[in-house]
Amino acid sequence: MATVNQIKALIRSHLDRDDERFLALALQVAASEARQGHGKAAAELRALVDEARKKSHASRRPIPIATPRGELTGLLSVSMPSTKLTDMVLHEPIRARLERVLREQRAFDKLQAHGLDPARKLLLVGPPGTGKTMTAAALAGELRLPLYVIVLHALITRFMGETAAKLRLIFDALQEHRGVYLFDEFDAIGTERASGSDVGEIRRVLNSFLQFLEQDDSRSLVVAATNHPSTLDRALFRRFDMVVEYSAPTEALAQAAIANRLAAFDASGLDWEAIRPTTAGLSYAEVVAACDAAAKDAVLRDTMTITTEQLQAALEERRHAKQG
Ligand SMILES: Nc1ncnc2c1ncn2[C@@H]1O[C@H](COP(=O)(O)OP(=O)(O)O)[C@@H](O)[C@H]1O
Ligand SMILES: [Mg+2]
Repeated sequence: MATVNQIKALIRSHLDRDDERFLALALQVAASEARQGHGKAAAELRALVDEARKKSHASRRPIPIATPRGELTGLLSVSMPSTKLTDMVLHEPIRARLERVLREQRAFDKLQAHGLDPARKLLLVGPPGTGKTMTAAALAGELRLPLYVIVLHALITRFMGETAAKLRLIFDALQEHRGVYLFDEFDAIGTERASGSDVGEIRRVLNSFLQFLEQDDSRSLVVAATNHPSTLDRALFRRFDMVVEYSAPTEALAQAAIANRLAAFDASGLDWEAIRPTTAGLSYAEVVAACDAAAKDAVLRDTMTITTEQLQAALEERRHAKQG
């Protein structure tokens, strides 16, 4: 018989919609049945897993990534991220809000049937390297939707004078192909007072963006990300269903990010008391980069063990690079 822990793990993987894990767990149950001499039960379980695998392959249609064609070429890039929310280290209230978005998205039809609109338009605000872009990827990964990235700055400089027309094309695509649409570096159009000769153009683009956003009643997620909240037009905040503010990690969250990143290595001997202070002032991206440097060092020394000194040195180096 399966143990309570195995059943709990099965249910958890079902809740996470992680089919692969679910089937792997079922095979583990089969293996433990076999070990207890229940050969018939084990064989039946394995046959069920095989059947489930065949079915899921048959129903797994080719991923409907609509590759941008024609006029959209070069305006957006598309990918199918496998990032999950659990890959991220997040301040708990932020995680709760993102999970809420996922829940509402997964119950899209149910909510709409009651005349309710699932949260769909998100504004992510915060300093560089805090996980805004990664969040868009994680939302796409969790919902198994393609991620379309639009870099607004490039759009504006390349299509001076016709940016609004290009934006319209993108919002049309959003209607046609469900996905997560990330308007990255939103600061390029969201600024209150742009400077230089682009002012008129940027104003026009911002107005068009807001108008398109307002009219948009598609099933896609619109995610705008910006590093500069202070310069953002406050009126803009109202147009989004949710504004999520990111910040650099606290020492505790930095520790969690390190443990996460080094999960495949032996980090059990790390002196956290000594390491935590050396993360001060670093972003998640910088902490992760330091972990990767320390991990590479370890591999080059033919070991899987990360030492406190090495990790501290890598973190110090990041800080110097930053101040440099
Ligand atoms: N909250 C986070 N949790 C885990 N890793 C993170 C987080 N934020 C950033 N990272 C790491 O830093 C990299 C860059 O982050 P990114 O999402 O591009 O930052 P932003 O868009 O806010 O500038 C990510 O690919 C990831 O490796
Ligand atoms: Mg980014």
